Amino acid sequence: MAQKKVIGLLIGRENTFPGPFLDTVNQRGAAEGISAELAVLGGTSEVAEQYHAVLVDRISHEVPYYRAHLKSAVLMGTTVINDPFWWEADEKFFECTLARKLGVAVPKTIVLPNKQYIPDIDQQRSLRNLQFPLDWDAIVNYTGLPAVLKPNTGGGWKDVFIVNSIEELITAYDQTGLKTMILQEFINWDDYIRCICIGRQHVLPIRYNPRAPFHERYQISHPVEGRLREQAINDARTLVEALGYDMDTVEFAVRDDVLYAIDFLNPAPDFDNFSIKEDNFGWVLDRMCDLVLGYARGDTQPPWRDEHRWWKHAHRAPSPSPMQA
Ligand SMILES: Nc1ncnc2c1ncn2[C@@H]1O[C@H](COP(=O)(O)OP(=O)(O)OP(=O)(O)O)[C@@H](O)[C@H]1O
Ligand SMILES: [Mg+2]
Repeated sequence: MAQKKVIGLLIGRENTFPGPFLDTVNQRGAAEGISAELAVLGGTSEVAEQYHAVLVDRISHEVPYYRAHLKSAVLMGTTVINDPFWWEADEKFFECTLARKLGVAVPKTIVLPNKQYIPDIDQQRSLRNLQFPLDWDAIVNYTGLPAVLKPNTGGGWKDVFIVNSIEELITAYDQTGLKTMILQEFINWDDYIRCICIGRQHVLPIRYNPRAPFHERYQISHPVEGRLREQAINDARTLVEALGYDMDTVEFAVRDDVLYAIDFLNPAPDFDNFSIKEDNFGWVLDRMCDLVLGYARGDTQPPWRDEHRWWKHAHRAPSPSPMQA
């Protein structure tokens, strides 16, 4: 019998996805010697054989020790969803730049110097490369008003401000402390779509109402259809394929038939059944199971695996010795 393969799941507070996911993978994988369980990590060494063939990471952005483990696990051959190196490097401003390069519409966006720094930074000596004061007129001239001031990384709508004037912008900016912020053209949307994206190919567009309370935002009574659906799928695929995320959501605000990508840095997307609703939850379970089983079997490789320079060095076939040549 082939060697047993274990799929590990790392989770935070969520409770509705983990159980059904582990059960489904265990049912489908049993005949092939593939099992799934909650990962249990604590103090592994740099030479340890990897216990997990695949790790599904839904929380390392909040638990840095997990990320340290995951980076080493990647080098040792474990497939991690999503690539911990890229997730750590990724930022919203970079993603806006990438979307422009890829021909996907995004709001006009500016990245701003931080409001505050750690005490060891002093304005006279440490910040000589920074323009001061900022030219707020020029900044707002580019984005227009109203505009959205939001963190360059982050989630959960924390520190997202909608500002209607330069005065409101400065008042909001003054509250942002050590965070790097972006200022973005506010898209006054007439429609809004969130796409759940699994395995970089499977895209499920769902109508979404950001103005509703959290658990009522996914609107299943009005499916996204026709040209809008096609465009959302195409653009979301373009973005996740370029970013290499196997698990992500991509959000679009629609204004005058143009889909503007608003937030596509969601590598641990909301999978709770009460929020995405039962049918969509079933779709996610299916696609996630297929994805991890494919990786565990070795049928597929993560797209980024051999793009890391250190991977090529560490896994290079030894060059033949002169005797063998
Ligand atoms: N440029 C924009 N134009 C219009 N609305 C915006 C814009 N940027 C953000 N928003 C609104 O603010 C919400 C939160 O912004 P964003 O998604 O970037 O933050 P987040 O903290 O990553 O949110 P989430 O936890 O939902 O991923 C969006 O869902 C959208 O409704
Ligand atoms: Mg987000």
